[in-house]
Amino acid sequence: MSNADFRPVIRLAILASGSGTNAQRLVEHFAGHAAVEVALIGTDNAKAGVIQRAWALGVPLFLFDKTLLRNGELQEELAAQRIDVILLAGFMQLIPAELVRTFPKRIINIHPALLPKYGGKGMYGDRVHAAVIAAGEKESGITIHFVNEHYDEGEHIAQFHCPVLPTDTVTSLAERVHGLEHAHYPAVVEKLVATGHGPRATG
Ligand code: GAR
Repeated sequence: MSNADFRPVIRLAILASGSGTNAQRLVEHFAGHAAVEVALIGTDNAKAGVIQRAWALGVPLFLFDKTLLRNGELQEELAAQRIDVILLAGFMQLIPAELVRTFPKRIINIHPALLPKYGGKGMYGDRVHAAVIAAGEKESGITIHFVNEHYDEGEHIAQFHCPVLPTDTVTSLAERVHGLEHAHYPAVVEKLVATGHGPRATG
């Protein structure tokens, strides 16, 4: 038996408010992974598509409302589930400062544009793509970044670019950007947890 057999499994929680295609890709990527496990999918939206996906994927689901996010009950659930790293995948609520402090550099977000442009409160999903097209941008992309207490302002981890075509609609641009997200988010997270953003210090 090698030392690797005793390495703790890194437990991820995904928070999502919408369809959950990124959540699904993350779960599929880490299925069968020896050192990383998606232990929980949390959602603040009782009608979110991600709920069906969590059931189909067999990942425990935690449904909570804004109150539980702000009064510390979500934190209690994350602690009870021994979560090491939180991944936001289309999560629409601001993460409270207290949660940021509890998970320093251990909350990661994906944003569907090249921050710092097209970020901030109210800039999510198709609204982002509509703004990019309206501004006549020639390129867009994705930003994977650490989360701080402000919308979309945490330190960048990685960006990936794609063209914006003159014929693009919100739908076609969203599809291209989703493709980038699905291709890169799981791999970037895997690399990050392998280089020290894994188990939280205990004791
Ligand atoms: C993704 O494009 C993600 O980048 C975006 O929501 C979409 C969720 O799609 N997040 C934001 O806009 C956050 N500001 P999904 O539910 O299919 O994963």
